[in-house]
Amino acid sequence: IICLIVSMIIAYLLGSVNFAVIITKAFAHKDIRDFGSGNAGMTNVLRTLGKGPAALTLLGDFSKGLFAVLIGRALFTFVAQMPDFFIGDYLCAFCGLLGHCFPVFFGFKGGKGILVSAGALIALSPVSFLCCLAAFLIFMAATKYVSVGSIASAVTFPVAILISRLIGGFAHPFAEAAMALLIGGIVIFMHRANIGRLIRGEENGFGKKKRP
Ligand code: G3P
Repeated sequence: IICLIVSMIIAYLLGSVNFAVIITKAFAHKDIRDFGSGNAGMTNVLRTLGKGPAALTLLGDFSKGLFAVLIGRALFTFVAQMPDFFIGDYLCAFCGLLGHCFPVFFGFKGGKGILVSAGALIALSPVSFLCCLAAFLIFMAATKYVSVGSIASAVTFPVAILISRLIGGFAHPFAEAAMALLIGGIVIFMHRANIGRLIRGEENGFGKKKRP
């Protein structure tokens, strides 16, 4: 249990390192949350500062999700001697996501959690990651809105986990799907402003530099 608490705290702190905020401060001496959609995420960095800073944000936010799960898994495996503690993996992913969305280092105002969840997902289930990536790309290409791709991938996440775990003969497919549903649900909840804008036909594209 101590191992679990420590790994969840590490995941939360790692998640709180919001690369959109850090990189925008480093490149432009500004707060990304004052620009574009107001979101501290890669899409808004791309919209506001361009490809280079956006690529760095992608790398940073994706890696921290991956490491949040891998560090937890290493602690469960080598310290707690519980290599199959899948709930721990999901709880670390969850805490990394919470850190990203509500970062302790940046006034609890962060991003929407797609990249940090994607990084965690590649550690949890590479096959499900590929399904979510496909959903993201298809829906983004069809609509030209990153948010639609993001929401589609968040919906795909628990479904892909359930199907891949059932096919793979895993021990607890429904429990894993429930944890994935919790994570996907938070990501969708974080997109509630986007959903409102999409319904009103006011969603931001890549190029618009509109204040929230
Ligand atoms: O993952 C964030 C993306 O889905 C939407 O970002 O800046 O358009 O609200 P944004």
